[in-house]
Amino acid sequence: MVQNTKNGSGSTTSKVVSAAIGGLVVGLMANAGRKVAMQMMDASYGEWDEILKAEHDATLMIFDKLQETGPDETTKRTMLLHQLKHALTKHALEEENVVYPTMRENGLTEAADELNNDHGYVKQFLFELGKMEPADQTWGAKVAEFRRRVETHQREEENTLFPQLRDKLSPEANTAMTTALNKEGVIAA
Ligand SMILES: [Fe+2]
Ligand SMILES: [Fe+2]
Repeated sequence: MVQNTKNGSGSTTSKVVSAAIGGLVVGLMANAGRKVAMQMMDASYGEWDEILKAEHDATLMIFDKLQETGPDETTKRTMLLHQLKHALTKHALEEENVVYPTMRENGLTEAADELNNDHGYVKQFLFELGKMEPADQTWGAKVAEFRRRVETHQREEENTLFPQLRDKLSPEANTAMTTALNKEGVIAA
């Protein structure tokens, strides 16, 4: 058993533990606040399809920044790749946990499965880029191919499949999907 050293105002050990717990609580609160703030930013874009479109645009902006970097900017490339992974992972959870299941419930199973398959390759690109040296000669070409694939997928969602889904749903069902999507967004933020 550890004996605490008394110093008049409580043990040294318990002070250290209290400080650590205090720091943890503050950290958790900050994290929760950050998550809610991030999702509120998303929610301010409006309905589910508008939120997802805004996330598509934000993702392409990260790609733009990545493509502006040179091979010597390795730290910047690593940081931007991390940002890209976070944005794509949050977006994937919202779509895979809410939107694609709703598509399947409304007769768009094949399309939902194709989109889900695309998401698998998004993770493949992130995995492979994560293993590459940012200064690698082929890094830029890999990012360019990744961006092309993501943009094609986004356009199919925005221009074809999401409008189809919106039209199939009642106004109440569309609103319910926005609420469900925001909940997923908070978890993933
Ligand atoms: Fe998607
Ligand atoms: Fe999307």
